[in-house]
Amino acid sequence: MTTTSHYALRRTPEEYDRLRAQARVWEEATGRLLDRVGLAAGARCLDAGCGPGETMRLMALRVGPAGRVTGIDADAPLAAQTERMLRDGGHRQCRVIAHDLTAYESVPGGPYDLVFARLLLFHLPERVAVLRRLWQSVAPGGHLLVQDYDLAALGVLPPSAALDEAGRLIVDTFGAVGCDVRVGATLPALFARAGIGEPDGTDVAGRIEPFGVGRRMLASVLASLLPAALGHGVATAREVEAALTALEADATRHPDRPMTWPLMIGAWKRR
Ligand SMILES: C[S@@+](CC[C@H](N)C(=O)[O-])C[C@H]1O[C@@H](n2cnc3c(N)ncnc32)[C@H](O)[C@@H]1O
Repeated sequence: MTTTSHYALRRTPEEYDRLRAQARVWEEATGRLLDRVGLAAGARCLDAGCGPGETMRLMALRVGPAGRVTGIDADAPLAAQTERMLRDGGHRQCRVIAHDLTAYESVPGGPYDLVFARLLLFHLPERVAVLRRLWQSVAPGGHLLVQDYDLAALGVLPPSAALDEAGRLIVDTFGAVGCDVRVGATLPALFARAGIGEPDGTDVAGRIEPFGVGRRMLASVLASLLPAALGHGVATAREVEAALTALEADATRHPDRPMTWPLMIGAWKRR
């Protein structure tokens, strides 16, 4: 099976559902940027680290039947499931390749008119090398478009000690696995380090929702991170369980307090 050993999140149906729910939250912010870089009928595009393929669906609607939408993901069973789901949904221009972007020099299937990656670099200690590879697979005149999180904005007002503790466990676990939880804010610097140059544009998208609603996504991220948290000695199962219980109790006590999600930061460059 093609898969990366250091990926922090679980590979379970529950986690794939969480990714789909998260993708719905950012659908507008991503669609806006796909339009901003001019993704149009007939284009060839790549979603690197496509996961359950929600952005591929947005791409397919824009490029139409004459276009080509390729997804790449290191999780081979998810890649197969995503391709089946998209094609069954009528998007026959979609295919998904099981491939580890950190393991090979070249990106399969290029060149592309648009290379897109959302919430991928966050997870990769090799993020500069992968970004350079993605840029090399962009056709002349095409675009590289990246969106990624900056977790620093996560919080509730007035502050919640329970949310802060859940956030700390999440940040520490991602950190222990080699993720960069502020990678979104560093995208212009990463573009420079990868030899791409200054982005043509950047974008910051945010979301605020009631604590009583927002805590669900936070809890499902922490639950998904449990094996990594245990494996890296960040917390015991009992500590994670206690953090989840406290989070639920506090969100039940203060369901209407505004909770700010991580920021979703975008950057793009025409080749
Ligand atoms: C957090 S999910 C994001 C999925 C999707 N891009 C989205 O925004 O909804 C990250 C995805 O990147 C994939 N991934 C992680 N490391 C990878 C690698 N080295 N090569 C290819 N895909 C990778 C994971 O399997 C997972 O599906």
